[in-house]
Amino acid sequence: MESRGALLCIFGATGDLAAKKILPALQQWSKDNIPFERIWCLGRRPLDGPGYHAFVEAKGNFRLNEGLKKAIDYHRLTFDDAAAYHSLAARIVAEGFDPAAKRLFFLAVKPEDVVPIIDQLQAAGLFATGNPEHRLLLEKPFGESLESAAAIQQRLLPLAAEEQMYRIDHYLGKEMIRNILTIRFANRIFTESWHGGAIETVEVISIETSGVEERLEYYDRAGAVNDMVQSHLLQMAALVAMDTPQTLEPESIRRAKIDVLKQMRLDSLHPPVIGQYAGYAAQVPGSTTETFVEATLRIDAPQWQGTRFVVRTGKKLGEKRTEIRLHFRPTRLCLNCSETLEAAPNQLVIEVFPQEGVQLRFNSKTPGYGYGVEPVTADYCHSCRMIGNKPEAYVKLLKDAWSGDKTLFAGFAELQAQWRIADEIQAAAREHGLVVYPPGVWDMREQGGAT
Ligand SMILES: NC(=O)c1ccc[n+]([C@@H]2O[C@H](COP(=O)([O-])OP(=O)(O)OC[C@H]3O[C@@H](n4cnc5c(N)ncnc54)[C@H](OP(=O)(O)O)[C@@H]3O)[C@@H](O)[C@H]2O)c1
Repeated sequence: MESRGALLCIFGATGDLAAKKILPALQQWSKDNIPFERIWCLGRRPLDGPGYHAFVEAKGNFRLNEGLKKAIDYHRLTFDDAAAYHSLAARIVAEGFDPAAKRLFFLAVKPEDVVPIIDQLQAAGLFATGNPEHRLLLEKPFGESLESAAAIQQRLLPLAAEEQMYRIDHYLGKEMIRNILTIRFANRIFTESWHGGAIETVEVISIETSGVEERLEYYDRAGAVNDMVQSHLLQMAALVAMDTPQTLEPESIRRAKIDVLKQMRLDSLHPPVIGQYAGYAAQVPGSTTETFVEATLRIDAPQWQGTRFVVRTGKKLGEKRTEIRLHFRPTRLCLNCSETLEAAPNQLVIEVFPQEGVQLRFNSKTPGYGYGVEPVTADYCHSCRMIGNKPEAYVKLLKDAWSGDKTLFAGFAELQAQWRIADEIQAAAREHGLVVYPPGVWDMREQGGAT
């Protein structure tokens, strides 16, 4: 039989992430020719190929196109069932797939299932340790603390080389997060003023109106610090604060992020605040899991002296918004030096959600005969410029994992630095207790909590 090409195997194919993100991303990618000849969707439910197509369409509320349906097959497999891995291997051989061709394994499963699955894959000859064409896409969370992340990594390393691991933080695939480096480094007005002498505060915000809903079991274990700050918000802060990388190669960018993450520490004058929305404990009696956190960080580097980095995230708040807001230091305006005017501080906002764009607040003369000064906003809508389908984070991440570009995937050293900060936030916040806040609150200061 003629040798055939690339495979994608999805573990947890009947789960929420597969139905709502991964399969819809494949559907979008397939419009411009997907490189996988076969996509194996793996689950413990008694389904066949067509049965899985119908299942995932109903769960994800979308339609698979005919080309993708041809590529997607289903194999019944419980994670600890060695025979099921061997029968998958036999089906792959029977279809004539070349073992040397690219194989991507997307593990949309709980963290504790990762190592046992890779162990079984290796034993069945489906995954070869050290073969860079065999790649593992690992979902977050990678651990629950610095200690547990290190333990997972230690168990993983005999099975898979670091270069085979693609750790997903899907925020890094978002269009405006990918735009941060362009905004920073392609504009002299920003490169010249991107330091503590000019920037007083950087806010990294991701807040939402909804509660925990169907992900309660996972969320109650994780909480806001581990679910959002440890991964997404610290990655966003690192992209804002990192030094200019030596090159735009993935390793160079990663190195710059690691360096700045290692220099981040809690601001001792502003202890972190954690909160829980009223009603949460009724769902999980006795739970002290935080659904809100605000932490102020400092960076021990000369260029960031005096700048506060505030990370804030929470559920059941007054609005849904994700953005990075840079507050520049105020400027004194000397007109004829007998009279000084204080101009409003400039602000640069990188908007991730609900708008995707950039806002710049600057000062202008008040229209008319006088010389008044007033703040005005230049508003760039990035998403308005997109024609056709909006780029989706998971499409970008799948494409990059396919081509071996690791820019948007977190390396273990980054994760270690992120867990160290998350653990510090947890420890310091717990000393001050949990603020209970009413759902829909706009300003946590009203609760006597966050600053
Ligand atoms: N959902 C999201 O939006 C999201 C976002 C970011 C990261 N993540 C991460 O992605 C991972 C998956 O999340 P999820 O929300 O998709 O979880 P989920 O809805 O609970 O799905 C888990 C999947 O694993 C399967 N499974 C569990 N135990 C199994 C076993 N012993 N043998 C075979 N299959 C088994 C389940 O099969 P059944 O259907 O038969 O139960 C299901 O397909 C988690 O690590 C999560 O933290 C999820």
